Amino acid sequence: MRLLFSEVVICFSTLPSVPQKYFNIAGPCHSSEHYMLNPLRNIGKELISLIERKGYFVIHAARQSGKTTLLWELVDKINAEGKYYALYCSLEKIQGIVEAKEAMPEIIDVLKIAFYNSSIPKGELFAKGPSDIGFASLLQFELSKISKALDKPLIIFFDEADCLSNGTLISFLRQLRDGFVSRARVPFVHSIALVGMRNIRDYKAHIRDDSVTLGSASPFNIVTEVMTLKNFTKDEVAELYNQHTVKKSQIFDPVAVDYIFEQTQGQP
Ligand SMILES: Nc1ncnc2c1ncn2[C@@H]1O[C@H](COP(=O)(O)OP(=O)(O)O)[C@@H](O)[C@H]1O
Ligand SMILES: [Mg+2]
Repeated sequence: MRLLFSEVVICFSTLPSVPQKYFNIAGPCHSSEHYMLNPLRNIGKELISLIERKGYFVIHAARQSGKTTLLWELVDKINAEGKYYALYCSLEKIQGIVEAKEAMPEIIDVLKIAFYNSSIPKGELFAKGPSDIGFASLLQFELSKISKALDKPLIIFFDEADCLSNGTLISFLRQLRDGFVSRARVPFVHSIALVGMRNIRDYKAHIRDDSVTLGSASPFNIVTEVMTLKNFTKDEVAELYNQHTVKKSQIFDPVAVDYIFEQTQGQP
């Protein structure tokens, strides 16, 4: 009997513990770990419809407003649904690399890592092996190759897209545009989102200030839609705190919720 009892105790103590959810304030949220609102609650439908229409679009919003959280959720949802392959790729590491000649191969590398870390089958084929194609066409070539190899349309979400320096941004957009306009003949990415703090018009204005020529076929012409994120409403703030109340039975005084909303104006 005694032996049995100690066996039971061991069994319980070795069970994996369910992680406790908490309010995350350091980086993107994930519903398995954090109390959070559904990031797709306002713009999910519109985003999916843009993707259905093979759109290339911009999502811009202030720092810490839930952009990355939204992208992670969207990528998981799209991949779970199974109609497309969705890839998240942050361009944050490209910041500070001024020359396009150096930055473009680095973009290939971050994409390679993103494919490697994704569950996209054949993703490891992206930029596999050496290539003698130059930096002004390599991204387009590799995206075309992988789009051809995959058995479902590919969607890429480029986070922190405004980290690119002017020359790099132009080379990057030119290659996406060239791939975009030839899509009826040559396989290319089905839908692309450029995500960051800047609106596409601000990218253009910024480049004009630096008097870099965009030429006649502006690489910005591929963007069909510009979207932004909304702050939380007061009801949503209350809903977020209520998730904690449901788990822990700790009541939040409505006055406290009002005060939090007043202080933050719903900024996530
Ligand atoms: N859907 C959400 N529900 C609750 N909190 C959120 C949500 N989205 C963002 N936040 C809050 O905002 C912070 C920043 O989110 P993040 O996605 O990293 O924003 P961004 O990419 O715009 O900088 C998170 O740490 C979290 O505190
Ligand atoms: Mg972010």
